[in-house]
Amino acid sequence: MPDPNISLPPTPRTTGIRLEGKRAIVTGAGSRAAGIGNGRATATLFALEGASVLLVDNDLAAAEATRDLILESNPAADVATYEADVTDEESCAAMVRTAVQNWGGLDILHNNVGVGMSVGSVVDSDLDQWDAVQQINIRSMVLTARHAVPAMIDSGGGAIINVASIAALRPRGMTAYSTSKGAVIALSQAMAVDHARQGIRVNCIAPGPIYTPMVYAAGMDDSLREARREASMLGIEGTGWDIGQAALFLASDEARYITGVVLPVDGGVLLRGPAR
Ligand SMILES: NC(=O)c1ccc[n+]([C@@H]2O[C@H](COP(=O)([O-])OP(=O)(O)OC[C@H]3O[C@@H](n4cnc5c(N)ncnc54)[C@H](O)[C@@H]3O)[C@@H](O)[C@H]2O)c1
Repeated sequence: MPDPNISLPPTPRTTGIRLEGKRAIVTGAGSRAAGIGNGRATATLFALEGASVLLVDNDLAAAEATRDLILESNPAADVATYEADVTDEESCAAMVRTAVQNWGGLDILHNNVGVGMSVGSVVDSDLDQWDAVQQINIRSMVLTARHAVPAMIDSGGGAIINVASIAALRPRGMTAYSTSKGAVIALSQAMAVDHARQGIRVNCIAPGPIYTPMVYAAGMDDSLREARREASMLGIEGTGWDIGQAALFLASDEARYITGVVLPVDGGVLLRGPAR
């Protein structure tokens, strides 16, 4: 089997229909290093399933690499890159305006941007770093949604997917990160309540250990990679495509009766505990 981190999706399609006619924004649609991150995989699957996708990243070259990957699979895919820092409100507003100007509306917002960047408890965390993690991981989702929701209402409804982490549900020594991802879950559920009657579904994905540039660019060695694979009940390694497939479902009309859920995509890691 080809390495899923460098190849196209396991089941590439060139004429998708699951998101036909949908207009989407994916934040963090690049990857911080070569390979397939969660955002890159999600943006690719959205585009190959027929959505028009704005590939947003603060690293334009990373978004362009995603665009090239998509066009390699389907030269007719409707994608555009957009450079924006989602911690900046005006950039988020401009990002939404651009999608609406390009395609006449907005149906899907996939909030993927998030950073680890923190090891430690409340006692030993650096407070500046603590604040930075909350700003990038949670405040950014508030800023994108503040501008996306009105555009979705104008479009007759939509779907928002926020990327949390099982670190919120099963914390392991990264307290700033776990706290931020817990807030992502609460935000998703609150937004699901706030905007249900406006036809907007809001759901949350909680990835488990996924082998993406986010983790291997930080220097993960083979033994830790193997330990993360072993942590899965299924004994297999998660990839960005697994997150992308979950996001694709939640973004599509197939999930029309699903809102406010937290979907772990973790190979069963959350079920693991001491043997006895
Ligand atoms: N890989 C895992 O094991 C794992 C586990 C749980 C959750 N997650 C979550 O998955 C998400 C990230 O996945 P990924 O694989 O796409 O990560 P990644 O780091 O490879 O890619 C994220 C992209 O976001 C961009 N970015 C960072 N800050 C930005 C900002 N302020 N504005 C705009 N773009 C910005 C980066 O340039 C990068 O291209 C995060 O929310 C992370 O917490 C990952």
